Amino acid sequence: MKILNSLVLLLFASLCIGQSNGGMWLPNLLEQLNEEEMHAMGMELTASDIYDINSGSLKDAVVHFGGFCTGEVISSQGLVLTNHHCGYGQIQSHSSVENNYLEDGFWAMDKSEELPNPGLFVKFINKIVDVTDAALAEVSDDMELAQRNAIIEENIEAIVNTAELAEFEEIEVKPFYKGNQFYAFYTISYPDVRLVGAPPSSIGKFGADTDNWVWPRHTGDFSIFRIYADKDNNPAEYSEDNVPFTPKHHLPINISGAKEGDFTMVFGFPGRTNEYLPASAVKQTAAIVDPAKVAMRDVSLKVMDKYMRANEAIKIKYASKFASIANYWKKWIGEMQGLERSNAVGKKQVYEQEFMARVNANPELKAKYGDLLNELNGLYQNLQPYAEVNAYHSELTGRNTLMLNVAYYMNRLENLYNTEGEEAYNGFKGRLLNYLEGQYKNYDSTVEAEVFAKLIQLYFEKVPGNYLDQNLMEIVGRTDSKAMAFAKELYKVSGITNFESLKTILDLPANEAIEALGKDEMVLFYKKLNAPFEEKVKPNYDKYNNAASDLQRIYMAAQLEVFSEKRFFPDANSTMRVTYGKVDGYYPKDAVYYGTHTYLEGVMEKYVPGDYEFDVPKQLIKLYNQKDYGEYADSNGKVPVNFIASNHTTGGNSGSPAIDAKGNLIGLNFDRAWEGTMSDINYDPAICRNIMVDARYILFIVDKFAGAEHLIKEMTIVK
Ligand code: ARG
Ligand code: GLU
Repeated sequence: MKILNSLVLLLFASLCIGQSNGGMWLPNLLEQLNEEEMHAMGMELTASDIYDINSGSLKDAVVHFGGFCTGEVISSQGLVLTNHHCGYGQIQSHSSVENNYLEDGFWAMDKSEELPNPGLFVKFINKIVDVTDAALAEVSDDMELAQRNAIIEENIEAIVNTAELAEFEEIEVKPFYKGNQFYAFYTISYPDVRLVGAPPSSIGKFGADTDNWVWPRHTGDFSIFRIYADKDNNPAEYSEDNVPFTPKHHLPINISGAKEGDFTMVFGFPGRTNEYLPASAVKQTAAIVDPAKVAMRDVSLKVMDKYMRANEAIKIKYASKFASIANYWKKWIGEMQGLERSNAVGKKQVYEQEFMARVNANPELKAKYGDLLNELNGLYQNLQPYAEVNAYHSELTGRNTLMLNVAYYMNRLENLYNTEGEEAYNGFKGRLLNYLEGQYKNYDSTVEAEVFAKLIQLYFEKVPGNYLDQNLMEIVGRTDSKAMAFAKELYKVSGITNFESLKTILDLPANEAIEALGKDEMVLFYKKLNAPFEEKVKPNYDKYNNAASDLQRIYMAAQLEVFSEKRFFPDANSTMRVTYGKVDGYYPKDAVYYGTHTYLEGVMEKYVPGDYEFDVPKQLIKLYNQKDYGEYADSNGKVPVNFIASNHTTGGNSGSPAIDAKGNLIGLNFDRAWEGTMSDINYDPAICRNIMVDARYILFIVDKFAGAEHLIKEMTIVK
């Protein structure tokens, strides 16, 4: 293991300099691995300007926003910039039909108007430490997987427990390179984060789902929050006495922007990538798993859309859920097409041939890795039928119907009570009620009963008969009208279809609650639906999937060893990373070139009065007509809206700062371009582009559109 670690670090005496080939790098390793290349690409900072544990550096201005997005501090008074779609849940929760901030936007004109958001937090990274040796102590290569994992878990617990942590401080230890290395992240969270401003959706979500994942783009996808702290600048739960937080560093904003060819980097918390899969696994994703999930979402989105268009209150309720289900639905479609078009499987096969050639040429490697790929391919083949059913099942019970998801939790509660007793039951129940209360707020039983009826039919159609309860299929019926009638009745008689009655049941003494839940029609339905899955699918899915993950770890180690001249970045895992590239256009198809920047002119080209996706606010049209752009126009006299670069990003990088060669903010990452959405599996520098809101558009909207000059005054503006 030790040899491996040093290998990864020592690889790069000789780098190939020029355009980056992607990668999401650990900020604490930039000096060893990336600094030279970054300089060659135009960066004027040092690695320690980016990451330094002793004095303020760029990393001190970057936060994990709510655990799912990224944000950055842009003033000395704790102002935080993130995406509109990252603040969407908060903006939605403050909205009503009368006070519709989603529709009209929201701007606090002084600090007293800033809105608190219970449950929201931002997290800073204090330092990152390599703990591989401690995490892998006592672990040997010939161990069973379960034993290996148990020891690692204990080791990690020991690392976490030996540290002295103040309130709101944490240590998170995460595996890298598929479990070949481990890093500890020392973090500090601030739980009082208030909403300061958000443009109307006709700016913040302009183009909505039609334009989502697509370049050329014209979306002002930003919102603004503020971190509050106690009077000593320490984290504190919300209190009226809290004061604006003073950061160690905040990003200056460069209003000269960036042009084609300029260096950029994106600093944030990318969620998950899978760049080192074997060809067989990539094939499975593109041909089996993605299509199954897309098919289920096709159906549920259609139903939600119908109700949302007809009813304003339902539109608000479902806005966030719809957006998030639609988001990955569309991404998977792009990913399937991109994997095909970039010949990802073919490229992986060529890579695997090279891998095997090197392995076979060296007896020592051959003994260790000679069978590895065959075994891995065999596992994916065995996994395939179960992976397909699992995809349908998880979309049905985990994602698109709240009630089956609640029934799943009720089932877990019951199991917990039976296996671990009342105390464990009560602990879980408390957390669950807290979480579910929010979920029920955005739920309508008429809409969901129809989603349920349509999805269950598709599930029965797609999943092989031996994994289904035949009796249940008879009861639900084989026609749309029968399934609809069944669903309506089920949603009527069940006691868990509204939060109050669920709570009434759970407020009973544990044994009585379990008994009542045991008779509930929805819970009973879930159990029947789930029984054949639990018995025949899940054990096999877990068996092959776990075995595959374990071999992936070895395959990763093998790649590091066999291609020791290459530089590998660890797959994204929601930890802090830096990616860098250049502002760069691309050819989406033969003879078509996409430029790097879009302008306000393009917003007006797309304008469809009254349309729910492409309407434009009157005030913005007026500013456009009068060319009232303040300082925010480009040298060509136009207001830039979005731009693209070759930074390698993924989900979780939303809200990440795009930073120029000198360390100034020039944009806000929010999306990727359609042709390159397969970059989570196969990054291709020719067509993979991240999409950012130009910082000048953000300032233009804040200043000229919203009239919130007081916010601009807080910021550090440079030219
Ligand atoms: N595709 C972007 C991301 O993955 C933006 C999503 C929000 N926008 C939307 N229209 N749903 O998060
Ligand atoms: N919109 C994505 C997010 O929410 C970022 C775009 C991507 O997936 O690259 O994190």
